[in-house]
Amino acid sequence: MPDWPWIRVLSVTVFCMLLIGVACRRRKRLHMSLMISAITIDLGIVLYLEIARGVVESIPKRPMTSLLFVHILLSVTVIVMYGVQVYGGIQNARGNRSVAHRKLMPWLLLIRFGNLVTSFFVV
Ligand code: HEM
Repeated sequence: MPDWPWIRVLSVTVFCMLLIGVACRRRKRLHMSLMISAITIDLGIVLYLEIARGVVESIPKRPMTSLLFVHILLSVTVIVMYGVQVYGGIQNARGNRSVAHRKLMPWLLLIRFGNLVTSFFVV
């Protein structure tokens, strides 16, 4: 993403928000606001990249390197995990403690970190 350095800044910001959100997981309102904002910004980045650059359509035209493959895999996984975490978060907010919500947390952070690192190297 060399033409859009601000997207990298936003992407790092989202990761920091997720980290802070996890650190504040006992402060329900703050946790929910941070996580929903981080997820919204992240999905906004994906939407922007698709509208401005047609990233999905560009995939068949690019050489499929292992790095690009891993990046796509991590990116899709993050989006699916966001959906699962929002569902588990709503369950928690309703008082039905979701075990999956807690167990998924380290994996989501790890996979989102992998997505961030690989995003710096894919062209
Ligand atoms: C990337 C997304 C998220 C991660 C990694 C995450 C992580 C966590 C973790 C680790 C906990 C502690 C769970 C426990 O100890 O059992 C927690 C609690 C909670 N989460 Fe999330 N969360 C995420 C998104 C959300 C979202 C989107 C919502 C709301 C829609 C939400 C609502 C809650 C609520 C209500 C609690 C319980 C807080 C409490 O009662 O102390 N979370 N979350």
